[in-house]
Amino acid sequence: MKLQFRLNVISVFVRDFCFMDDLAVARALHVISVVAWIGGVYLVTFVVLPSVRAMDEALDQIRSFDDIESRFGGHAKIMTLIAAGSGFYMLYKMDAWNRYASLDYWWIHAMTAIWVLFTVVLFVLEPLFLHAWFDKRAQEAPAETFAMVARFHQILLVASLITVFGAVLGVHG
Ligand code: HEM
Repeated sequence: MKLQFRLNVISVFVRDFCFMDDLAVARALHVISVVAWIGGVYLVTFVVLPSVRAMDEALDQIRSFDDIESRFGGHAKIMTLIAAGSGFYMLYKMDAWNRYASLDYWWIHAMTAIWVLFTVVLFVLEPLFLHAWFDKRAQEAPAETFAMVARFHQILLVASLITVFGAVLGVHG
């Protein structure tokens, strides 16, 4: 009985796997990458930054934040690549490039703008100078620097969540 059940589960899985259409797979990958990436930003904004800011020593604050951000940075880079790969693939498959010409699809513009912003920060600004600049400034004026970083994360997070809201309504609403 158990074996029969397992075989049924496996056959359903194999059937679904064989008949998956590539657009649906791209959409699923897109949603996974967005969940991991924006979920990480949510955690940094509402959990990591407040707890780091509550530490007494500036050096502890900087070390902890650097450590957490650099660990998350690797994940964020991979997720931004998957989000863009799957997103542009969907536009190509649906032949929907003309959405960039219509304000009705503001959420497509918003998704692309958020992706460009994160990509520039993660792949260009951070390795070039942002990291070193942050460490230096945080040692000189920790409270102000962390307040600025918190504000930056809050703005990005709100923009990202509004975009997710608009995209889901735009696709399914
Ligand atoms: C280069 C960047 C991106 C491109 C080209 C892109 C493209 C797309 C496309 C073509 C769709 C499917 C639209 C449809 O089915 O009519 C989509 C869905 C979606 N995207 Fe993006 N996207 C990008 C980045 C983002 C980002 C940064 C976010 C989050 C802030 C995001 C969140 C979503 C969500 C939530 C959906 C709806 C999924 C669903 O419910 O089916 N995307 N995106």
